[in-house]
Amino acid sequence: MSGESLSDAQLNSLFEAARWAPSTYNEQEWRFLYAHRDSEHWSTFFDLLMEANQTWCEKAAVLVVVVSHKVFERNGKPNPVHTFDAGAAFENLCLQGAAMNLVVHGMAGFNRGNARRELNVPDDYEVEAMIAIGPPGDPAELPEQLQEREVPTGRKSIDEIRCEGPFSF
Ligand SMILES: Cc1cc2nc3c(=O)[nH]c(=O)nc-3n(C[C@H](O)[C@H](O)[C@H](O)COP(=O)(O)O)c2cc1C
Repeated sequence: MSGESLSDAQLNSLFEAARWAPSTYNEQEWRFLYAHRDSEHWSTFFDLLMEANQTWCEKAAVLVVVVSHKVFERNGKPNPVHTFDAGAAFENLCLQGAAMNLVVHGMAGFNRGNARRELNVPDDYEVEAMIAIGPPGDPAELPEQLQEREVPTGRKSIDEIRCEGPFSF
């Protein structure tokens, strides 16, 4: 990341994309808690991250904690796809970020218990993931170990991820 900040308008474009994601019964159970780097909340969010993620995120413009409502608003019953829906919203945000030439980096490496406590996340919400967002920077400024990871990643082939009929992988 370059260290440049994000305007509220840019951030709103990202959340605007996220909010149009599909969800079960149109539940829209995702919620995004965030902190700009130069704000009072930054250290609370930053301190949740594992050390390697902290190094990578030092120059991020915004850190986000994604949470999702585990139960349906209308009847309080468990929602079996709250994580799936939150993932769809995350991907929308990623695609919008790509269109805006921003880095949107999902992270599982953070302390979920601390996130719940420090950010007052209620028990009926799941802490899902964190996201670092910002304009791209120069990978050469990262520590050597992290630089090595800054290469395009591949994906499994279609044949490795689909099968017709029962599970046969
Ligand atoms: C939910 C989720 C959690 C992730 N957790 C981490 C993490 O903790 N640390 C990390 O460096 N990358 C993590 N990644 C991978 C990076 O975000 C990855 O660079 C990003 O998905 C883009 O990868 P790509 O270049 O393969 O598209 C995670 C990705 C996702 C989707």
